[in-house]
Amino acid sequence: MKVNNINYRTIIGSESKNSIQIIDQTELPHKFVLKEIKTLDDVIHSIQRMCVRGAPLIGVTAAYGFAIALKENQCDEFITKVKEKLISARPTAVNLAWAIEAIAGHVKRVAPTKRYGEAWSYAEKLAEEDIQTNQKIGLHGLDLLKSFKKDKLNILTHCNAGWLATVDYGTALSPIYHAAEFEMDIHVWVSETRPRNQGSSLTAWELEQAGIKHTVITDNAAGYLMQKGEVDCVIVGADRISVDGQVVNKIGTYLKAVVAYENNIPFYVAAPKSTIDAKFICDNHPFEIEYRCGSEVSLITGKLADGSVSTVTLTTSPVLNPAFDLTPSKYISNIICEDGIFNPSSLKDLL
Ligand code: MRU
Repeated sequence: MKVNNINYRTIIGSESKNSIQIIDQTELPHKFVLKEIKTLDDVIHSIQRMCVRGAPLIGVTAAYGFAIALKENQCDEFITKVKEKLISARPTAVNLAWAIEAIAGHVKRVAPTKRYGEAWSYAEKLAEEDIQTNQKIGLHGLDLLKSFKKDKLNILTHCNAGWLATVDYGTALSPIYHAAEFEMDIHVWVSETRPRNQGSSLTAWELEQAGIKHTVITDNAAGYLMQKGEVDCVIVGADRISVDGQVVNKIGTYLKAVVAYENNIPFYVAAPKSTIDAKFICDNHPFEIEYRCGSEVSLITGKLADGSVSTVTLTTSPVLNPAFDLTPSKYISNIICEDGIFNPSSLKDLL
């Protein structure tokens, strides 16, 4: 997508195959900073600090990190260690483990001398596939948006599942970008997404860059707007989806889904098939909900009148900061993936 009219991807592998260039998302929306990363430890650090974030993007970034690590050592024991380090960088989004299992499985099938080259090509392939997948999600999502047959559509989204959360296009925002290209009259309610504000800092910035009408609202305003008829549908992304259609996504998703259900507003989840966890079904939850540092809640960063960026304290009380929640399938109207539009109860057939 474009930033100041120049085309970017969130991640690019260097021609010399020993580093990656990322957009440091912790600096947005105040500064657009590109960063070069050259070591496995720096890749892990950038995932944990959320310089790169979003389920599909952390998967692709980890795959590049895996390839970078293999430059120095290609033996099986080392591969196992690298795998463990990367998979534990962030526990909730399944795409990270999915990408690492796939790339490690692939390189283990070739001779050690070829493993580094193969790993790099595999990471590049995952990045390309992510773009194609998201374009398909966008086109299927566009069909859904067209089916409303309304002159103007108000869409609500939560967190950032735009191009910054993927290699390009995004998941939840891909239908929105496609609708804008199709010249539909759309307006996006962007829920700010405390505590890290991925909505107000990232989604709003993306939509601004793309020239799409949007308004930032507090997380607590969504229910009121739904009740007043100001929301036609909700589209969010996902970090992990169970085979029976439960969705793990950014904290606050569950609240929005329940209120949408109560108000008969369609609630869509847009995600690639790689977000479906074949081991996650009914009460079997083979993953951890990430609890992040309390300082994400107690401190807040913003731009001062003199243009400098500063951090201030909101509270000194104890803080609890779960980063994701789980939405039961009954609140979800459809799941949009690269293969089409599915009822949450029919994911088994899709797998
Ligand atoms: O903690 P983050 O910002 O990495 O959270 C992940 C997300 O961006 C969202 O939960 C998103 O809706 C799913 S990823 C496209």
